[in-house]
Amino acid sequence: MPRAIRLRCALALAALVALDASARAAQEGPTEEVPYVRTPQAVVDAMLRLAAPRPADFLVDLGSGDGRIVITAAQRYGTRGLGVDLDATLVAEARARAVAAGVAERVRFEKRDLFATDLAPATIVTMYLLPEYNLLLRPKLLAALRPGARIVSHDWDMGEWRPDARLTVAAPDKPVGIAKESTVYLWIVPARVSGRWRTEVPRDGRTVPVEIAFTQAFQDLGGEARIDGRAVAIERASVAGARVLFRFEDGGKGWRFDGRARGDRIVGQVSEDGGPPRPWRAFRVE
Ligand SMILES: C[S@@+](CC[C@H](N)C(=O)[O-])C[C@H]1O[C@@H](n2cnc3c(N)ncnc32)[C@H](O)[C@@H]1O
Repeated sequence: MPRAIRLRCALALAALVALDASARAAQEGPTEEVPYVRTPQAVVDAMLRLAAPRPADFLVDLGSGDGRIVITAAQRYGTRGLGVDLDATLVAEARARAVAAGVAERVRFEKRDLFATDLAPATIVTMYLLPEYNLLLRPKLLAALRPGARIVSHDWDMGEWRPDARLTVAAPDKPVGIAKESTVYLWIVPARVSGRWRTEVPRDGRTVPVEIAFTQAFQDLGGEARIDGRAVAIERASVAGARVLFRFEDGGKGWRFDGRARGDRIVGQVSEDGGPPRPWRAFRVE
């Protein structure tokens, strides 16, 4: 076999092996256990300030320990919640603390693996785990949670998914680490809008068809629009929960879009530069 072909086969094989290893890691789960370390109350308070719970929210704490995050949310914000933990003694302690705090009607604690927990009902997910856990959970959180759901993590980030907010909090009673402070991160689950859409824009008193191809990396949006047969860049684009913002220019004119994505539609307003906002809709092509 010629050397160039041998090299290409070797590269393809290496890529397959790497793919297989990462798929196996995702399937087999984490390589380390998360020990029980409680979040200091000042940090719990900061996590909840970032998540801004309301009574209509449903908060899930993945690895809930003594239940302090779920219980504090129920006490201060009237939020319903679920805590899951592998440790049966901690689950029993959390249940007892919920009764003592007078919130047993609003919260539940279950002995369960966090990776086997249904996240779909959650509008807020909190966690104090390990970096590897956050990365393993990331695709599951993005797939299961609805746009606008909030994720708050104590101390560990989500890799290349940039947080939407972050705080450093003094934590003098933190049981681990030398620096007695914690970092708290917030992410808002973005609507999934990558792919092709068709829409129309007003131009010189007529309506012009436009095809848009969005590329998306978490909350960052880019891509191009095809208008009158010309491709133009999508600019200043972002997804914040269900809200989709972008603009593009063609032939010296610019259009600004502000809509909310819901399934295969985005509904909102478009403004031609200097003009009043008008109702606007886009429909997913594929
Ligand atoms: C660092 S503690 C955080 C406890 C609590 N959330 C807090 O912030 O105070 C992590 C918790 O996750 C639990 N845990 C670890 N792996 C788990 C898993 N696979 N499923 C459910 N709970 C798990 C541990 O038992 C421990 O109580």
